[in-house]
Amino acid sequence: MATFAVTGSASGMGAASAATLSAAGHTVIGVDLRDADILADLGTAEGRERAAEEILARCGGTLDGVAAIAGVGPNLPDAAAVMSINYFGTVRLLERLRPALAASGAGRAVVIGSNAASTVPIIDDDLVELALAGKEQAARERARAAAEAMPAEVRAMVPSISAYASSKFALIRWVRRTAVTPAWARQGVLLNGIAPGAVLTPLMLGATGDAADYDPDGFPTPMPLGVFGRPEDIAFWVQQFLRPEARFTTGAILYVDGGTDAAMRPDAQ
Ligand code: NAI
Repeated sequence: MATFAVTGSASGMGAASAATLSAAGHTVIGVDLRDADILADLGTAEGRERAAEEILARCGGTLDGVAAIAGVGPNLPDAAAVMSINYFGTVRLLERLRPALAASGAGRAVVIGSNAASTVPIIDDDLVELALAGKEQAARERARAAAEAMPAEVRAMVPSISAYASSKFALIRWVRRTAVTPAWARQGVLLNGIAPGAVLTPLMLGATGDAADYDPDGFPTPMPLGVFGRPEDIAFWVQQFLRPEARFTTGAILYVDGGTDAAMRPDAQ
């Protein structure tokens, strides 16, 4: 049986993934702000370092896989925090854990992006470049300035929509660029991404927490299957990407979104 680290394990897709992996007999090291084996704020450099140290101590330096699921949505008021948590919290932790994944011989990492990276038409290219260049402070400042420049009515509804979509766009680009580098590919560490659509989790349901408030056919983006996703729908694919048998797939981004991206961009490859 394998040992996996799962970030965001206290809720939603992370909790479902941790439960799925545990039920299959694997050892799961959960990381979250609360209700987890390791309590750490992945939005800060100190939190990421503590999470990495504690994961490495618990797995003894050999880790079979990481499911980097922790993240926030576009409703978070602080756009800078969205960049730090969604992009840097994921990338920095994975970079730190890569040697332990290489030590496994069949290391696997799966990252949660979002179909917002392709379906929300306000990607901030400069912000994406700052993130990919590893300039966290500059990215935080850019995200805040861009949020403040948005029309007041948009800010009132989704204050961090640009930072959110851009953080996930940068994350997906990082996966594709990084997966094929020798440090990952030639060490047998496979790195892939999942781009979920609307999934009924506390992140999406927000304050009311009531799925009945949401109608797939009245949703702002098309929902061809006529249903929203459940956390288990994402956990299923997380588990597949972490399997040692998934040995010829790296740098892939899988849309698990009920068909939204295909409906909006039918001719994209
Ligand atoms: P959720 O809110 O149920 O779970 C997210 C978990 O991440 C929570 O347990 C939270 O405490 C943890 N987390 C947040 N900030 C953290 C930090 N600074 N340090 C450590 N842990 C932190 O949300 P959900 O929906 O399960 O989200 C999982 C991932 O899926 C996120 O990356 C989110 O951006 C992404 N996503 C969600 C979609 C949806 O419709 N629910 C759609 C597309 C992407």
